[in-house]
Amino acid sequence: MYAVKEQLRPLGLINISGEQINDHWDLYKGYVKQVNVLQETPDIRRYGFEYNGMVLHEYYFENLTAGGAPLSKSNLKKAIEQTWGSYEQWQKAFVETGKSRGIGWAILYCNPENKQLSNHFVTEHQNGHIAGFKPILVMDVWEHAYMVDHRAGGRAAYIDAFMKNINWSVVEKRFG
Ligand SMILES: [Fe+2]
Repeated sequence: MYAVKEQLRPLGLINISGEQINDHWDLYKGYVKQVNVLQETPDIRRYGFEYNGMVLHEYYFENLTAGGAPLSKSNLKKAIEQTWGSYEQWQKAFVETGKSRGIGWAILYCNPENKQLSNHFVTEHQNGHIAGFKPILVMDVWEHAYMVDHRAGGRAAYIDAFMKNINWSVVEKRFG
């Protein structure tokens, strides 16, 4: 049985309201519930959707904190600069990834084999993951992530808010 990880619920974010987070949190609880239901059956074809839906939301909520926590002079910062030239260039690329048409997630991954970084778009919760890669920064861009605050056309404004609330110390820990 999986439990809802209450300790991951972010509070007081810049331009992402408590009402928005509450709605989103209820959806996350739905994924935990469905994973537990599927555990009881031998037919788990939909496990990838439900399980990834649960875990990606946990990564997402965990990598948000009110006003953000800065990227320190860490190995991660060095890796970002080596890969994209600068933090700003990485951010531009990540934002573009987040604006990909369709429902899904923008994810900064690390390949644990060689510590290489790359941005990817995952459709729904399960399509587009790279086998063995580790998600280190996860941004939900399903409409439900911003509908309460920004309506259906508000993805860009929401992404802008997301970028202001990234908990880089969590991301640095995931990178290792
Ligand atoms: Fe979501």
